[in-house]
Amino acid sequence: TPLASKTSGFFIMTGKKILIGITGSIAAYKIPHLVRLLTKAGATVQVMMTPNAKDFVSPLVLATLTQQKVLVDMFDQDTWSNHVMLGRWADVMLIAPASCNTLAKMANGQCDNFLLATYMSATCPVMIAPAMDEDMWHHPATQQNLNSLKSFGYHVLDVEHGSLASGLVGMGRMSEPEAIVSAIDIFLSQQATLQGLQALVTAGPTYENIDPVRFIGNHSSGKMGAALALDMAQKGATVHLILGPSQIKLDHPNIKITRVQSAQQMYDATLSVFDQIDIAIMSAAVADYTPMNIATEKIKKQDAELTIQLTKTKDILHAVGHAKKAHQTVVGFALESTNEKEYALGKLTKKNADIIVLNSTKNEGAGFGHDTNKVTIFDTKGANHTTALMSKTAIANTIINHIITFRQ
Ligand code: CTP
Repeated sequence: TPLASKTSGFFIMTGKKILIGITGSIAAYKIPHLVRLLTKAGATVQVMMTPNAKDFVSPLVLATLTQQKVLVDMFDQDTWSNHVMLGRWADVMLIAPASCNTLAKMANGQCDNFLLATYMSATCPVMIAPAMDEDMWHHPATQQNLNSLKSFGYHVLDVEHGSLASGLVGMGRMSEPEAIVSAIDIFLSQQATLQGLQALVTAGPTYENIDPVRFIGNHSSGKMGAALALDMAQKGATVHLILGPSQIKLDHPNIKITRVQSAQQMYDATLSVFDQIDIAIMSAAVADYTPMNIATEKIKKQDAELTIQLTKTKDILHAVGHAKKAHQTVVGFALESTNEKEYALGKLTKKNADIIVLNSTKNEGAGFGHDTNKVTIFDTKGANHTTALMSKTAIANTIINHIITFRQ
């Protein structure tokens, strides 16, 4: 989808709890669409609104879309809604649209409705999408209120330029629902952290020697593995990158590179650290077969045909998959050209991995050597997510965010 190509792909949204507070502004009519986008992306949404907001959007529509009662009053018949727990339940509270009046109250700590009481007690991050007419937007009081809110650490989304409810054209339109979803997605993925964790990535090809000058290799560039290592390092993990022969150069204080040549060396390097690892990603294109014997001298040409006997290499993913303990997450890759899903799921089971990232040879611009990729992520909890064609950096971010969500 066009949305997915703009952001990390929304996998981070799966299972996230978003509390939306709607206030009295005409832009409230866009919130049902926003709710649809968020729930489609896998989030759970709870809506609350100020009494004035009910004039702009139907609570019944919102209750139907979220399958949750819309909260307006702190006291409803004989029940009391717990504003403190709502702010603790949510991963993000989004106030959208935030009217001029509500912004002023938020900036000054006024607390005369249920929405404001929840905002005042929220321990989760708060995002604000203002909406108002242009003159109200430019008023120094509004600008001062926005500055106060930013100084409190809240995330104020930009307003857009365009037609306003007054009939004028100018600044003050609420950010479009698609842009709000992107902003939440980016915010959540920036929050995702691997601080204190040890990660391992195998990457690149392997070279299997035939004699002192020849080898069997493949065209893997190691770019996908390098992007994965970098993304995890940026999220705070200590990363062991076990890298086959590749041009890749990576310089990050959290990445320790071990260079290897053969499948056996990659196996040994991986298994020697695996016990300390929390997340292991096997992205290397490991040779499946290696010569039975490596000639000690260069093989001279003789007959018209030459047979080199090969034997299977040790499957690193299979080994770590079967050795893994409860705290360890093991991720493998599959490159398939037919029956992709079936084979990918087969690898998940056979190799006892938690997640398999499928590359299909049918995707143009994806795979070996390219700077872009398009993948499908399967996991043991039933995920089946296909990304857009994106840079390998964006794909890496999507995969790592998926792993973080999977481990929660
Ligand atoms: N893998 C590995 N060690 C090997 C071979 C593969 O760790 N000796 C890992 C790869 O890093 C990748 C996954 O296993 O994560 C790929 O599985 P593999 O069985 O090699 O599948 P393909 O090469 O995609 O194809 P095939 O279906 O021929 O097995």
